[in-house]
Parts: sequence; C-alpha cells; structure tokens
Amino acid sequence: MALLEILQFPHPVLRQRADEVREIDATIHRLARDMAETMHRAPGIGLAAPQVGVSSRLIVVDLSAGEEPDQLLVLVNPEIVCKEGKIRMEEGCLSVPDLRETVTRCERVVVRGQDLQGNMVEVEGDELMAVALQHEIDHLDGMLFIDHLSQLKRSRYVARQKKVAAEQRG
Ligand code: NI
Repeated sequence: MALLEILQFPHPVLRQRADEVREIDATIHRLARDMAETMHRAPGIGLAAPQVGVSSRLIVVDLSAGEEPDQLLVLVNPEIVCKEGKIRMEEGCLSVPDLRETVTRCERVVVRGQDLQGNMVEVEGDELMAVALQHEIDHLDGMLFIDHLSQLKRSRYVARQKKVAAEQRG
C-alpha cells in the first residue's frame, strides 16, 4: 500500500475528462487500494483517480472516513442514471485547498458502475451519499465543486489562490 500525492487546483489533470477503465487488472486493484488509503489518511470521504494524477474513471467513497471497513465503496466507470430532488450542503475537496462552500445538488441518485470484480453494480444514495457520489463523478468529467458556485465566488477563490501561489514563490 502506498500514500499517493493529491493534486491541487489548478493542476490540468483535474480538468481532463477521464478515460473509461477497459480492464480491471492488478494496476486498477492497486490504485483503488492506494486511493482508499490516501483518502482515509487525508482524511476525506471521497476521492477520484484524477485527483491522484490518473485520468481513469475510478472513484472511492467512504462516509465513515475509515471507521467502518464495510463502508468503503469502490466504483469503476460509474454513471448517474437517475436523479431526484434538491439538496444544499457544504462541500470541500482535497484538491481545492482552503475552501468550503454550500453547493446545490440532487438529493437522491442511482449510480451504475462496476466493482473490482467486474460485476455490474447499482448504488442508491441520498443526502450525504448522493452528494459524495455526484462530487466524485464530477471529477471524472474534469469538474470541481467550485464550478457549481457563482461566477463571483469562483473568481474570488481563483484570485486568492493566485495570490497564495505568488507569495509562496516569493
Ligand atoms: Ni473533490
């Protein structure tokens, strides 16, 4: 097992559409394990492969943040097939430092994908689970939660991060 580096906004890989996983091989198994460990250590409740620099359609979600081993969900090629309702919840992202903002998303989703054995699986989630699934699947399409904020809030954040980066360069 290994801890992976989590890429930070504005890294370009975070903005790419990730590729479909064609073969769930040993590399994907190892990546899923390392992503779960990296997410737990951060700590976070979700992580998508592009966040660790791998542009593949793979996500891990664990609402227990590592407290309950059977809560870990690994989804390959996940797709949202059904959405219902609206919910507003505060979000943050391991790739978007120093920002938490309220985002409006669907309250209930059904996600279809594959597990690590290649079986088709369907996951239903509401509230926090629905939000986490939508947030992680967004990452696979190069979207970040700041894309759901107003233009003003987003540009304020981008300006602030540019200033921080300039200060770090001295
Ligand atoms: Ni995120």
